[in-house]
Amino acid sequence: MEFGHTKIKKHRLTVGGCDCKALAEQFGTPLYVFDVEYAESIAKAYVEVLKREYPDFTVCYASKAFCCTGIYEILAPLGLGADVVSGGELYTALLGGMSADKIYFHGNNKTGKEIKYAIESGVGCFVVDSPRELDLISRYAKNPQNVMVRVNPGVEAHTHRFIQTTLVDSKFGFSISDGSAEQIIKSIAEYKNLHFCGIACHIGSQIFEKQPFEIAIDKTTDFIVKLNSLGIDVERLDLGGGFGIKYADGDMPLTPEAYMSNTAKYLKKTVKEKGIAAPRLIVEPGRSIVGEAGVTLYTVGAIKTIENVKTYAAVDGGMFDNPRVALYDARYTAVVADKADEQAAAKYSIAGKCCESGDVLIDGIDLPALESGDVIAVMSTGAYHYSMASNYNRNAVPPVVAVKNGKACYMVKPQTYEDIVRNDSKLDF
Ligand code: LLP
Repeated sequence: MEFGHTKIKKHRLTVGGCDCKALAEQFGTPLYVFDVEYAESIAKAYVEVLKREYPDFTVCYASKAFCCTGIYEILAPLGLGADVVSGGELYTALLGGMSADKIYFHGNNKTGKEIKYAIESGVGCFVVDSPRELDLISRYAKNPQNVMVRVNPGVEAHTHRFIQTTLVDSKFGFSISDGSAEQIIKSIAEYKNLHFCGIACHIGSQIFEKQPFEIAIDKTTDFIVKLNSLGIDVERLDLGGGFGIKYADGDMPLTPEAYMSNTAKYLKKTVKEKGIAAPRLIVEPGRSIVGEAGVTLYTVGAIKTIENVKTYAAVDGGMFDNPRVALYDARYTAVVADKADEQAAAKYSIAGKCCESGDVLIDGIDLPALESGDVIAVMSTGAYHYSMASNYNRNAVPPVVAVKNGKACYMVKPQTYEDIVRNDSKLDF
């Protein structure tokens, strides 16, 4: 099984040169492990392809996939910018060393407080998603503030329904087809301290094909032709993120190189054919940079066999560290950390420890015979895991340990029970 940079050495799973069973012993479980070199290699691949194929570009890491200061320490030096969608992500990105001018602020309902904070921080560009937002940005902007407009090109990417964002009934963006995108863009000229610099779209997530991106390019460039005919320049085109990764057998994503070079070449060809000025290309990969860099380690506790039905192996994590199964029916695969390539002996359902029947991380996986105390590694958990974790049932959010060249250190420290109650307040009527 090939996932990110995990390797199997003498039956033992290693990541970033560290033995997973040993990491579990040293740091405890549940534990998120993050392979720094893997994330770096994907980020560099995007940058290298674009340097070659489309030199006017910015790769903005989509913070929502995995947000903590360490990720910006890794990605900012590689020249990446960041997409943020909240004041909290912005604060984290700045603290992690991301320069404000390389930050794009997205979101369908940015609050006035967030907009003020972003302007005071010198954020590079807002991706506007409502007319109200223009008023708010204009209220706080001193110098002309760059704004892009989120458009809905109406492309349907083949992913889970809940993850699609560009269906006609999407809460995101202004539709190109019904004229609302054109209308809001025209209205920007009325704000003297706003500068319209381009359009943005995001057609979905965990996409395995090239075609949806090509269709998005067709539709957005048609729209650019239209805007140009109205005398409106479009300096930047943001195609969002969405490149898929491998979670389990049967997932066959393209490499980041393949996605990116196809997108870049297709855009180059299309702008030439349509006779429009080549816009700066912004891409916002999130999952594909960090997803396969992550592995979650759990310790098996209770094992419960229901005769002729199934055997549950319960682990010390669950939907509080991985809500994706309950939310999206996401599929995962796992190995036993020190029996990683051993023959399977039985089928298990890997259950979480939350008080919900639906808290099952993998419903049926063939594994070597499990015993309490075994460490299980669930693969491809670097994206939308830590960032979507909660304290449900007052479980602590697991720490994140970064691994590189056989060394390991905290990227996010463990939460204590004190941390969990830190903001609980004594009633004082
Ligand atoms: N740019 C925009 C405007 C987005 O809305 C998103 C993701 C991205 C970039 C990054 O997309 P990526 O490259 O990561 O696919 N929680 C869900 C995923 C939601 C994605 C929302 N937007 C999950 O766990 O699958």
